[in-house]
Amino acid sequence: MDTAPGTAIGTAIGTAIGIDIGGSGVKGAVVDVATGAFVSARVRVPTPELSTPDAVAAVVAEVVAGLLGAPGPASLPMGVTVPGVVRRGVVHSAANIDAAWVGADAAALFAPLTSGPVAVLNDADAAGLAEERYGAARGVPGVVLVTTLGTGIGSALLHDGRLVPNVELGHLEIGGRVAEQWAGDRARTREDLDFATWAERLSVYYGHVCRLVSPDLIVVGGGVSKHADRFLPLLDPAVVTAPVVPAGLRNRAGIVGAAALAAR
Ligand code: BGC
Repeated sequence: MDTAPGTAIGTAIGTAIGIDIGGSGVKGAVVDVATGAFVSARVRVPTPELSTPDAVAAVVAEVVAGLLGAPGPASLPMGVTVPGVVRRGVVHSAANIDAAWVGADAAALFAPLTSGPVAVLNDADAAGLAEERYGAARGVPGVVLVTTLGTGIGSALLHDGRLVPNVELGHLEIGGRVAEQWAGDRARTREDLDFATWAERLSVYYGHVCRLVSPDLIVVGGGVSKHADRFLPLLDPAVVTAPVVPAGLRNRAGIVGAAALAAR
């Protein structure tokens, strides 16, 4: 855990817990759902090597205990993101997490951690909801595509502020390659690509996506979005025909979107 625990949050009004399960860390915070601001310290615990549902649930419990400053259960609404397709609380894909997640009832798995309502959703969808409500997609009409560049490529498609869930554009096959394996941030670090070379791949990816969904705006999130000024200006406007902006919430969007959904 990399932060001090929060205190006295169990009774706060208008707050919810957001938990973002990623390939390398499980991150959580208590969120003021009116503003999208964190009202606790962020707590992060590394994702276990063997990232099965039970092992990850134990880590989520640790994060919640860190937020409460005591062992749970909490009494706040709690939203949890999973890096896979989630339908009615059940996980249906697991590209970057243990295969045992497929078929797992994640909503039931996390329910014992709070007496409040639990919402489980795809991580990129959570980012999309957060960007729409508090960030770079706020008030933007038409088609907005929010992407997260991290271990995989996550995508969330919004139309006039409404989300179409589980749009998996990181798994597009482009030139015989799975997009997220070739153009994702993990490919950049694995292959030690400089930003100019990576931006060429991203141009191919976002160009392809522009032809498929004709977005009015593309929002780019994920941890690497803190370096957005080093690669977004290098995207090729001849193929990436939509304006591209960095995420307003940067890497906080998953936590914030999950909390906002749970509090709804
Ligand atoms: C998964 C998506 C997820 C993305 C980002 C992909 O591999 O299939 O569901 O949103 O990674 O974590």
